[in-house]
Amino acid sequence: MRGLYIHIPFCKSKCKYCGFYSKTSHFEHISVYMDRLTEELAHISDKNFDTLYIGGGTPSLIPNRTLENFLKKLFKSINYNGIEFTFEINPDSADKDKLKILYDFGLTRASIGAQSFDEEILKYLGRIHNVNDIYTVFRHIRNINSNISINMDIIFDIPGKKTKINKTVDELLGMAPEHISTYSFSYDTKHFRNKSTKEQSPKEYIFINNKLTQNGYQQYEISNYAKTGHDSKHNKIYWNMNEYIGLGTSAHSMIYNCNGERIRYSNNASIEEYLKGNYQKETETVKGEELLKEDLIFGLRQTEGVDACLLAKKYGKNYKKCIDHLRPLFEDNLLNYNGERICTSQKGLLIMDSLQQYIWELQF
Ligand SMILES: C[S@@+](CC[C@H](N)C(=O)[O-])C[C@H]1O[C@@H](n2cnc3c(N)ncnc32)[C@H](O)[C@@H]1O
Ligand code: SF4
Repeated sequence: MRGLYIHIPFCKSKCKYCGFYSKTSHFEHISVYMDRLTEELAHISDKNFDTLYIGGGTPSLIPNRTLENFLKKLFKSINYNGIEFTFEINPDSADKDKLKILYDFGLTRASIGAQSFDEEILKYLGRIHNVNDIYTVFRHIRNINSNISINMDIIFDIPGKKTKINKTVDELLGMAPEHISTYSFSYDTKHFRNKSTKEQSPKEYIFINNKLTQNGYQQYEISNYAKTGHDSKHNKIYWNMNEYIGLGTSAHSMIYNCNGERIRYSNNASIEEYLKGNYQKETETVKGEELLKEDLIFGLRQTEGVDACLLAKKYGKNYKKCIDHLRPLFEDNLLNYNGERICTSQKGLLIMDSLQQYIWELQF
């Protein structure tokens, strides 16, 4: 599997919690930006892709004609296998015509940034949509074609507010999207730093986990739940250490070199530079024991875990040493074996950040 990610760095307004790179200006340059994306793509030698993900920022802000022209050029320049085409949609900025254009170009998955079904929380977070907008966009997508798989993003453990997470989860279950991403609030901006900390964390996580798994969703990654067959093929590329190319400001790419090392590229974050055609990337090579650490750190986010035999074959002695270091985590029931796979237990998933840190700092 090989993925293409395209970043659209424009938003109508900046949400108070969001640290992703996006601008609330430069809208007059969206069309030039889209041309630059095609130019950047021309520099990529391998244009074979199984999945396509257009995210942001707010991709649904792209004017319809501009989007149509871009998709025409894009599909002419790549060899796309049609496995999954996702487009991120903000509830306030998706009209029926845009969804129709996307569907005609092969959209298979729409990801809606719902965040909450509580009006007060939406305002508190600085969102510009309301609950009704979520229902409207959801209906539009279903009306375009009921085969489009729908994801909804929600945020829990919001500091300084009682989230009424049960209301949000009940509304979600009532709508029955095929996929639900549940993000634990992360302090990516200064705005909420003085608000009370995440005391409730395990409570809300466990509540959501129980409710979703009892109602037909399988947790396949720490933050992601899906009905059978609707797991995100594109996101799994990241966790399974497969190659992906990212286009646009602040996008990341990862490809393998002929020695099996991972080359990670990070694009410049400045929109001004990008509009000038400066596609300069920072490069980092991941090799040796770091390859194994990354396999574990990303793989163990998934409930299916990692294939122990495969890792042993790939990393030989380093794998054996690593397993010795991981023994305390097995003893504490944070990791366990499921057949030949190493998996993170629910107890382990609750402290995923520390677990990842522990693995990253191992010396062997
Ligand atoms: C890349 S963002 C873009 C999605 C889209 N622009 C939107 O806001 O609807 C993807 C998701 O990340 C989540 N997210 C962003 N900032 C977050 C934060 N500080 N803590 C937790 N989740 C966050 C939100 O749920 C958001 O929908
Ligand atoms: S959460 Fe989405 S809409 Fe809000 S600023 Fe971030 S990218 Fe833009």
